[in-house]
Amino acid sequence: AQNDSGRIVLLPGDGIGPEVAAEAVQCLRLLSDAYDLGLVFEEHDFGGAAIDAHGVPLPETTLAACRGADAILLGAVGGPKWDDSAERPEAGLLKLRAALGLFANLRPARVMHGLEELSPLKSHIARGADILVVRELTGGLYFGEKVIRDDAASDLCHYSRTEIERIAHVAFCAARERRCRVTSVDKANVLATSKLWRKIVIEVSSAYPDVALDHLYVDAAAMALVTRPTQFDVILTENLFGDILSDEMSVIGGSIGLLGSSSTGDRGPALFEPIHGSAPDIAGLDRANPGGAIASAAMMLQSLGFAAQAEMLDRALERTIGEGCRTADLGGGIGCSAFGSRVREILRSDL
Ligand code: NAI
Ligand code: MG
Repeated sequence: AQNDSGRIVLLPGDGIGPEVAAEAVQCLRLLSDAYDLGLVFEEHDFGGAAIDAHGVPLPETTLAACRGADAILLGAVGGPKWDDSAERPEAGLLKLRAALGLFANLRPARVMHGLEELSPLKSHIARGADILVVRELTGGLYFGEKVIRDDAASDLCHYSRTEIERIAHVAFCAARERRCRVTSVDKANVLATSKLWRKIVIEVSSAYPDVALDHLYVDAAAMALVTRPTQFDVILTENLFGDILSDEMSVIGGSIGLLGSSSTGDRGPALFEPIHGSAPDIAGLDRANPGGAIASAAMMLQSLGFAAQAEMLDRALERTIGEGCRTADLGGGIGCSAFGSRVREILRSDL
């Protein structure tokens, strides 16, 4: 092999997770074999599957394997089966992010050329939209102190200078690879954490004079995403706002099933996963769109240094949809595995 830096831990998870992950892995294997990339896969239990097998969503063996990997590819976790279990599958995901220090979540979404019809927005509004949401992933309300009493409850929103600085650097660096524009989203008219956020983002921006910076309140940003989506390049925001805005943004291109994401930190491997969940309503029916998992695999190739193969995979995915091969979420009748096969056919013809 060209190198030995391709040890990939595969966490198929629950519901449609294993179905979509399998299609992505087959694409990766094809490229690895054709270009001698030296990717090796090691599968581990995670989420509900791990609760069934080991009693916990993130077993020690899985965590240890993740720590030693070069990258992690995840399907999705969760499902009604585990709603009443002591620890839910999703808790495993929060633990894994925290254990690996994965503080930056990157979600790219765009309206593909000629496929504006797939967008729920009017074509002239959707056309050309191409957005990257950079979401802070290990701070804010999700990780602050929680108090639950019978008659009252509270969640503490906390952000430190260090936490804001490092995610801001990720956003500005990402903007340099794109159209050099960052929109920082906060609620600085109301929240103390947002006031600090805005101040520090402005400070960090001085190191990136070539990147344009503007600020939007989160309510205005929610509106602008569906009225003027093309005004955005990189959206930089905190954990909760990022969770909500990235779901809103995810449908602009046509379906949540199409989008991939990466979560990176300052230590250890990055994690790549489609942004959708385990979709229990269609699990096991070969109806899932594996596009988000395949897009995640492409992001993984890019981060491992295989930029050419990453681009090939992205292009094959786009061509598959472009030629009308569509799963049910995009109004078509193609199954998950047939879609994946078509992507690989196109890849092969491109080798
Ligand atoms: P979901 O994303 O699983 O499903 C929402 C809707 O989108 C469903 O109608 C589903 O059929 C559809 N959908 C999602 N992915 C699709 C795909 N690839 N192809 C076609 N259609 C697709 O979100 P939901 O229903 O809120 O959550 C289901 C479970 O997944 C819950 O247990 C939730 O906690 C978990 N979840 C896990 C995530 C993860 O593993 N990162 C992220 C989000 C939710
Ligand atoms: Mg979400």
